[in-house]
Amino acid sequence: MKNGFLTIGELCHRTGLKEHTLRYWEREFGSFLKPYRSKGGHRRYSDEDLKKLLRIKELLKERGYTIKGAKRILKGDGNIRDEEEERSLRKGNYFRGKKILITGGTGTVGREITRRLLPLNPSVIRIYSRDETKQFHMQEELGQVKNIRYFIGDVRDLRRLEMAMEEVDIVFHLAALKHVGSCEYNPFEAINTNVYGSQNVINAALKVNAEKVIFASTDKAVNPVSTMGATKLVAEKLFTAANFYKGRRRTIFASVRFGNVLGSRGSVIPLFKNQLMNGKPITLTSKRMTRFIMSLKEAAEFIFKAVYLAKGGEVFVPKMPMIRIMDLVEVIKDSLGLHTNIKEIGIRPGEKLYEELMTKDEETRSLERDDMYIILPLLREAGEDKYLYPDAYIPKGDNHYTSERGPFLSRDEIRRLLQEERLI
Ligand SMILES: NC(=O)c1ccc[n+]([C@@H]2O[C@H](COP(=O)([O-])OP(=O)(O)OC[C@H]3O[C@@H](n4cnc5c(N)ncnc54)[C@H](OP(=O)(O)O)[C@@H]3O)[C@@H](O)[C@H]2O)c1
Repeated sequence: MKNGFLTIGELCHRTGLKEHTLRYWEREFGSFLKPYRSKGGHRRYSDEDLKKLLRIKELLKERGYTIKGAKRILKGDGNIRDEEEERSLRKGNYFRGKKILITGGTGTVGREITRRLLPLNPSVIRIYSRDETKQFHMQEELGQVKNIRYFIGDVRDLRRLEMAMEEVDIVFHLAALKHVGSCEYNPFEAINTNVYGSQNVINAALKVNAEKVIFASTDKAVNPVSTMGATKLVAEKLFTAANFYKGRRRTIFASVRFGNVLGSRGSVIPLFKNQLMNGKPITLTSKRMTRFIMSLKEAAEFIFKAVYLAKGGEVFVPKMPMIRIMDLVEVIKDSLGLHTNIKEIGIRPGEKLYEELMTKDEETRSLERDDMYIILPLLREAGEDKYLYPDAYIPKGDNHYTSERGPFLSRDEIRRLLQEERLI
């Protein structure tokens, strides 16, 4: 170290790079790296130079960017453009005048997405689902809204989907068989809806050259033990693969993968409340069970973020809080002022004691932001520079993301969350 500056030898040692590599990068990245020259003409490097070199090394060696791509990132071009895009999308400009289709639009998440889209002035929102009664209730709930159209249809029916998808720009694919137990006992039905149905959505979207198509997956697709999880994993793969055979079409396909949405249809909160109010024991798979949770608002907002950010083939994974199931039970019991026994019924077919949000392999090709992980597609071509996102960085250290690891929400935090969601 000379006067607070590093010599080239010291720099090689600190960066783990060979001297000829450093000199080559210095030439290539001349506008970013400007070592100071000592009186004797020797190069001297500041802490700032060291940081820049480590960043260049990360981009070229770890992330596989070309020199051109790395220069673009360092200049901030990519990120600035994306940030602007994200800002304008957030303001709602993005959905204004767009034609939107929501498969499974009458479900818990679909209704929330619809409510949030309405003030953003889309040209039309088409709800696509099978059961007319749910559609009727949704119409009652939302009142007469002129830009919502209701289509009765099954995602297994490609011709009907194609009709509903005419001229559509954005598709939210939420329709699914999502109950672990029923998929376990009716596996081929799960395959028909979750796998063939998803491929139908892809085919119909490609036919109309839709702009973006987002698929709602689940943490149960990670190292799946259930038929439901396995079919969702296959659907994620279908969505990723579609980006690579779409030819000249503009369509971007991506998935979001999240945990339990608090209070959604068939979730444990309504079940526990019912059991308590009817004086029945609360049935738990195991007192040791842990889960990722998310509010309905967070789930809907996250799906919108995926629309804004998707470049093609990613799986977007929100950073979600974790809870111990026993804490949830205690909060619900307290809030109702009711007490009952807890009956452990053991693991049911396809269930897990804990959930994961990424496999070990996915961790190695993911990017991190403060709010999410972005799993980049396996099929990505080496050196491809399109996967740039505002505020994204390479995950530091071990980010294996399982719900048994904690930290867990305290009971007070769970109580506040449930109150905010008006679930207790
Ligand atoms: N809720 C959660 O905790 C959670 C967590 C992670 C991921 N997800 C995923 O998010 C999505 C939405 O979940 P949700 O909780 O909103 O589900 P939900 O309330 O059960 O709604 C499911 C929707 O899909 C429709 N549907 C089912 N099968 C269909 C078919 N074959 N063709 C057309 N529509 C069909 C249902 O309407 P009809 O019955 O009338 O057809 C309903 O509108 C699902 O894909 C789910 O796997 C949910």
